[in-house]
Amino acid sequence: MQIETKLLSGALGAEIKGIDLTDISDDNFKKINDLLLEHKVIFFRDQPLTAEQHIALAEKFGPLETHAYVKGLEKFPEIVRIIKAEDEKNQWGENWHSDVSYNFKPTKAVILKSIKIPPVGGDTCFSNMELAWETLDGKIKDKIKDKKAIHSSLGAEFFLENYKKMEGNKNKNYNEYSNEHPMVRTHPETGKKILFVNWTYTKEIIGMKREESEEILKQIFEHQTRLDLTCRFTWTENAVCIWDNRSVIHYAIADFYPGKGLGYERVMDRIAIEGDHPQ
Ligand code: SIN
Repeated sequence: MQIETKLLSGALGAEIKGIDLTDISDDNFKKINDLLLEHKVIFFRDQPLTAEQHIALAEKFGPLETHAYVKGLEKFPEIVRIIKAEDEKNQWGENWHSDVSYNFKPTKAVILKSIKIPPVGGDTCFSNMELAWETLDGKIKDKIKDKKAIHSSLGAEFFLENYKKMEGNKNKNYNEYSNEHPMVRTHPETGKKILFVNWTYTKEIIGMKREESEEILKQIFEHQTRLDLTCRFTWTENAVCIWDNRSVIHYAIADFYPGKGLGYERVMDRIAIEGDHPQ
């Protein structure tokens, strides 16, 4: 089958046709991984993967991760089912972040499959952190290039309190914790420099006065979400998205306003692949 690639923006992201995600041969996996490294986030429509097929594809990328706070499905604990209930206006992931950047080994990649999609609303946006580093103001680059920052997990309530159909994997008091990571990391597969901070979890630059750290982080958060660094995907059911969590930040848009996406469920199955310790 001929592979067709439609770019989603000039910054990153591509919708791919001509690849069957149930084919997990080494040859097909190489094509998928090459596309992922090139575009950073790739989308496939009409791929009705079973849970087993979803897991088998994810395992080609490496060992699977258990979410720090959220419980997986009873039968498939590797799968976190993200559910926005019909009457909920909020959505899991509705702010710019890189998944579990607070872990010692943040997620390498995520494979998200849509199960139920509202008629309108609930798109996901991505932003290219390689481009964000390239285009960052030179003075800020000089200040942060050898710095580390603290990423905080924010605790179980942050993940669960607003989402009535999602359950914790331990108990409600599961504590907040943090890890330090370089603000500019090197991609282990491409060797490219990546700006590795995000609005949701990055709290403080180590070795800088609090006011300066806050000011620089504020400027970086504005910069890294510039629209010209982003792409946006409108879901349909049985679509699959794979993102390179080392190279992008993302934002699940909760635009479920009365008479539109409100009154509908949005359901996604998420599998995350373990990453390495950022260098
Ligand atoms: C996430 O932030 O991991 C969820 C993304 C989405 O549901 O679109």
